[in-house]
Amino acid sequence: MAKSTKTIDNSEIYRQIGLCGTIREKLQIDEKSLLAMVDTYGCQQNEADSEKIRGYLAEMGFGFTQDEFAADIIVVNTCAVREHAEMRVLGNVGALNHTKKAKPGQIICVCGCMVQQEHMARKIKMSYPIVDLVFGPHELWRFPELLLEVIERHKRIFATEKDDGAVAEGIPLRRDGKVKAWLSIMYGCNNFCSYCIVPYVRGRERSRQPEDIVREAERLVAEGYKDITLLGQNVNSYGKDLDRGVDFADLLRMINGIPGDFLIRFMTSHPKDATEKLFKTMAECEKCARHLHLPVQSGNDRILKVMNRNYDSATYIKKLELARSYMPDLVVTTDIIVGFPGETDEEFRDTLRLCEKVRFDAMFTFIYSKRVGTPAANMPDPYSREEKQAHFDALTETANRISGEKHREYEGKTVRVLVDGETGREGYNLSSRTNGGRLVHLKGDTSLIGQFINVRITASNTWALYGELENG
Ligand code: SAH
Ligand code: SF4
Ligand code: F3S
Repeated sequence: MAKSTKTIDNSEIYRQIGLCGTIREKLQIDEKSLLAMVDTYGCQQNEADSEKIRGYLAEMGFGFTQDEFAADIIVVNTCAVREHAEMRVLGNVGALNHTKKAKPGQIICVCGCMVQQEHMARKIKMSYPIVDLVFGPHELWRFPELLLEVIERHKRIFATEKDDGAVAEGIPLRRDGKVKAWLSIMYGCNNFCSYCIVPYVRGRERSRQPEDIVREAERLVAEGYKDITLLGQNVNSYGKDLDRGVDFADLLRMINGIPGDFLIRFMTSHPKDATEKLFKTMAECEKCARHLHLPVQSGNDRILKVMNRNYDSATYIKKLELARSYMPDLVVTTDIIVGFPGETDEEFRDTLRLCEKVRFDAMFTFIYSKRVGTPAANMPDPYSREEKQAHFDALTETANRISGEKHREYEGKTVRVLVDGETGREGYNLSSRTNGGRLVHLKGDTSLIGQFINVRITASNTWALYGELENG
């Protein structure tokens, strides 16, 4: 039984699915006669949530479109992690004024992390009258009920109450791809890094039961998916809220035990909870990709402390050395924030030094963005945007150089890749990923999509590798 995790009863989800039928009748949807558009911002968790929204919409009978003028219902699933993400969302929601004018019956919904913040829900209420329904991540499981209320009562609905969140099983899912699948194993975050909004909008850490996860993974493998990414804000704390004696490494082993040729990926790992047991398990599980995304955020110990990350740079480096001792071919990627309040030039240099020492295969770099209600928002922030930009540029240059050098090491080698889709370009028309997750462009027939093949790497740049089929 769960120690603290609240679960939504199955009967509730059945009721929601039943309400999808009611909506179908009310709107007289038959055979996809009405169209829905789901627009997703933010991280993979949000992508996974949008698959549930699409699942419900498909249950209601909607077809799908990417054209906002053709859509009868639009759902914008938002992100709040940085100001830039919020600005994009607000700009795009504002632009829906035109579509609603052209199609007055259009229903516009805004959901996700951004609207879970009180000030943002208020902003939508006051300044975006075209929006009919607003709901936070905790209310997603009852999207049909909320939508029905909008349709029946002809009024705007706002469902963004503060909540620690729950786990709901059985929501219908409509996945995007046929090769790669997201699989949420837990929700929320308890870490409260001082700059980050996620714990405030996504609630406390809640793990799904291991059997539910394994069953979903088995189904994905049976359906032919070849690349399964386990999702959580900090997968290393999987299971801590359950009394099951199953931690993340155990879960990896359970999924690795499912017969079939497929890869297991996961993100994100918090360095403070990455253990030797995890590295050992990864090394022993042949289906587990040799890739670790381990966000370091900064290479300076004072900054790491005020960020509330709970490790120092030496511990981080030691953990990576341990991981690499188990898996010498491990691909390591990271996230870094520059311009955290009060970060000096010398402190920033520590981050550069750490990057030179670790040599990440790829780095995702961000300029600090102040988030309302987080502790960092109240810290003195004396450095100018220009100074931060200069640091950001220096870091990007370092990141690109190292990625380019690492990619060059693949040239002339033969690697096994999974072909996952088309690039939409002539010449190198297929995209694929190595076991470690590096992007490889290929020339080949689309029938290769979904297959593992060997390719010889012939060229590379900062962002990608280029390959030729072996014997081809
Ligand atoms: N749970 C994941 C990260 C989720 S957010 C983890 O802890 O690793 C993804 C990345 O966005 C973070 O790793 C961080 O680098 C960046 N980020 C989060 N909040 C930010 C902020 N306020 N300003 C700039 N970057 C931020
Ligand atoms: Fe944000 Fe930190 Fe949680 Fe990641 S671990 S989601 S950075 S609070
Ligand atoms: Fe953004 Fe929410 Fe993900 S804030 S990064 S969509 S958890």
